[in-house]
Amino acid sequence: MAETRDTITIVDNRTGKQIELPIRHGTEGPGAVEIGAFTKAFGLFALDPGFVSTASCESKITYIDGEEGVLLYRGYPIEQLAEKSSYTEVCYLLLNGELPTREQLGEFTHTIRHHTMLHEQMGRFFQGFRRDAHPMAILVGCVGALSAFYHDHLDIHDPHDRMITAHRLIAKMPTLAAACYKYSIGQPIVYPDNRLDYAANFLRMMFSVPCEDYQVDPVQSRALDVIFTLHADHEQNASASTVRLAGSSLANPYACISAGISALWGPAHGGANEAVLRMLAEIGRAERIPEFVERAKSKTDPFRLMGFGHRVYKNFDPRAKIIRGMCHEVLRQLHHSDPLFDIATKLEEVALHDDYFIEKKLYPNVDFYSGIILKAIGIPVNMFTVIFAMARTVGWIAQWIEMIAEPGQKIGRPRQLYAGHPAREYIPVERRG
Ligand code: CMC
Repeated sequence: MAETRDTITIVDNRTGKQIELPIRHGTEGPGAVEIGAFTKAFGLFALDPGFVSTASCESKITYIDGEEGVLLYRGYPIEQLAEKSSYTEVCYLLLNGELPTREQLGEFTHTIRHHTMLHEQMGRFFQGFRRDAHPMAILVGCVGALSAFYHDHLDIHDPHDRMITAHRLIAKMPTLAAACYKYSIGQPIVYPDNRLDYAANFLRMMFSVPCEDYQVDPVQSRALDVIFTLHADHEQNASASTVRLAGSSLANPYACISAGISALWGPAHGGANEAVLRMLAEIGRAERIPEFVERAKSKTDPFRLMGFGHRVYKNFDPRAKIIRGMCHEVLRQLHHSDPLFDIATKLEEVALHDDYFIEKKLYPNVDFYSGIILKAIGIPVNMFTVIFAMARTVGWIAQWIEMIAEPGQKIGRPRQLYAGHPAREYIPVERRG
């Protein structure tokens, strides 16, 4: 718990009544006013649609400074982790709070590699979906269904059981994600190969077929590993908050992660990476960029430039900076030229010099470039958000563990400003006009 030192005085101008509320200071960034006594004193709720000014919890996992473009996992800058670490090590860090020793990393890697198999009966679930179902729809269903399979080690109040659940989810997500894809294209589901690392194993399950040899391309697997690291956590965003809220009722953790996946799916959140690629394809050629920029600025057109803007980053998204640089490098190494990448680069240039985007502080976010790399690797567009969900699973589960383990943990229960009809008498149907 952060120490309480300062206070803020709130005065009710109607009555002159005033109260002092404690200000809590964290280790970085703005502090927060504890408003618990506010409602009791004034009989008023705090209204903050979209949680723009509300800290929903105290957390030690991830820190974002939106003005400075800073993202830290457990204190470590994302730039250093993307360059020097691996996704598996980042998972350990997010879950345990510290970087592992060599021995701890070896043990953790072994554990994750040996939880990759799915219960054989899970395969039956895929059969229930239409082949043309969106892989996110299948993933939401199948992760929820895991709650019906893993009854052992499910005491959410036992830290050991919580960690086993975390290992299972992190390890099984690539197997499930690749299976969603294989099912949608009518190919046999590929079993994991536990000799391979996390990203390589996923690539093999996505692209190998039983009748041919498959060699994982190290450029592709490294690029994917960095993409996983960049997406691993992002503090209290819509999906993490959904996982926390669902988990606060002490619900089954697999069901909570499935709720998080549902929240991620929307185009304002993780669904944006898919929407970016579709938008770039729709733009088609550089000459049409001004037309789309004008549409994005129009008050009467709901169109937005996908991959631009962020609730928290108002200067630049550090993940976008890393991924933009990586994009050039990966395309070069894979000898891949993509006209959509040229359109993306030109669109970025036009938008960054446009007064509307400058004034509203709308910069490219992580999703603007990640799709170009995923496409170069051969990942189909409808799998982009599935990959985001795979990578974010560790963040969700770390947030869930932190929430459950907090002393005095309470069910989340926001209140509302009621604006409906005042109380009225029921009128029998025969007397209604
Ligand atoms: N294109 C055009 N105008 C925009 C855009 C955009 N991409 N984003 C925001 N605006 C405008 C918006 O119309 C509003 O204008 P006004 O003040 O005149 O009404 C102003 O900027 C503020 O927008 P907002 O919707 O109030 O901002 P928000 O913080 O609620 O939304 C956002 C953030 C990310 C949902 C939004 O910027 C957006 O829809 N972006 C496109 C989708 C996208 O790329 N999402 C991925 C986010 S990063 C990955 C992740 O974390 O999931």
